[in-house]
Amino acid sequence: MKLDVCRWKSDRRVFLKTATGSAIIAMIEGQSAIAKPTLFVQTAGSNSLGVTKATRVIIDTDPGVDDAFALMLALQSPELKVEAVTAVAGNLPLGITLPNALRLVEICDRADIPVAGGAAAPLIRRQVTAASAHGENGLGGVELPEPKITPVKEHAADLICRIANQSPGEVTLIGLGPLTNIALALRADPTLSKAVKGIVLMGGSLSGGNVTPAAEFNFYVDPEAASIVFNSGIPITMVGLDVTRKVELTESYIRQLEAGKNKPSQAAARIARAIMATYKKHGQNGGPTLHDPLAVSALIRPNILTFEDYQVKIETTGTITAGESVGWKRDPINYAAALENIGPSSTKSEGTFTPNTKVAVDVRPDEFFHLLIERITSNA
Ligand code: RIB
Ligand code: CA
Repeated sequence: MKLDVCRWKSDRRVFLKTATGSAIIAMIEGQSAIAKPTLFVQTAGSNSLGVTKATRVIIDTDPGVDDAFALMLALQSPELKVEAVTAVAGNLPLGITLPNALRLVEICDRADIPVAGGAAAPLIRRQVTAASAHGENGLGGVELPEPKITPVKEHAADLICRIANQSPGEVTLIGLGPLTNIALALRADPTLSKAVKGIVLMGGSLSGGNVTPAAEFNFYVDPEAASIVFNSGIPITMVGLDVTRKVELTESYIRQLEAGKNKPSQAAARIARAIMATYKKHGQNGGPTLHDPLAVSALIRPNILTFEDYQVKIETTGTITAGESVGWKRDPINYAAALENIGPSSTKSEGTFTPNTKVAVDVRPDEFFHLLIERITSNA
């Protein structure tokens, strides 16, 4: 299923002219069958010899300071076999996130891994970035060497579809930025939701957002993409702000990174130092919270997190709340009250409780940082 990016660009303009948000989602989601998902927290499987097999993953990312830590954790962890890295616009424009993804793969000496560029904008909304939090170059202002490796020609969405379909049921997606590439992949191949093993994503929150009081950045940037993913039937593990707020980088962790002798720990330490200095310059207490590597750790050491089953849907039409992840623990699945003279005649429950997501509700921060620093400083 080849996603013709040029066609997509023209389609996007058609989308913008002819459809409202919900109609757009219906157009995209229409084809993907919504199966009742089996809930999912991936742990490394083992083969017949009892040897633990690595979990095969594709990482979609918008590096981004915490994405940089997440990529280095994943690339330095034997529990994961990174099949590809795909870049998306998010923290910074694609023209910055793609080269940063190349730099980080190269710093970990993994030039064997294909890196693909993806969406340069959300499905239907204007791009919003977060340079204030990540620096204009996405790495806290730290200049890492220009990458020698180049991206593959394939669009990220096509690469995701191709690798997933080559090994049905074996590849887990890791979403660390806005979910535009993954939504495009689902649009290009409606059977993808059955081909992938599941998705572990950093995004959302059941306890308030970080861009608006309702929405977390990744879902805020592209609510339509997030909604497509959460309605796709893919088994989802959501590592949201509920837990990522609790993993704040501190001076002592930075010193442990600085003590590392390899390229990843030196790069991580320089980026961490730079971001801490920015926080201090802006009078902010404490340091950055490492959202994305915590999501990756769910695949390496799941017991760092505690999960509960929810039915999660994404708000896309709210002018104030678009991007909010709303979670139900039980029936009734009630939506907003009906308007007097528009829409459904009464407020009825939207079907019965169908859990589609394992939501991380608690975390052991010390164990997370022990794993993160041990892996980034190791000579994998
Ligand atoms: O809200 C935090 C998320 O948004 C992280 O993935 C961070 O990198 C930004 O993309
Ligand atoms: Ca990110």
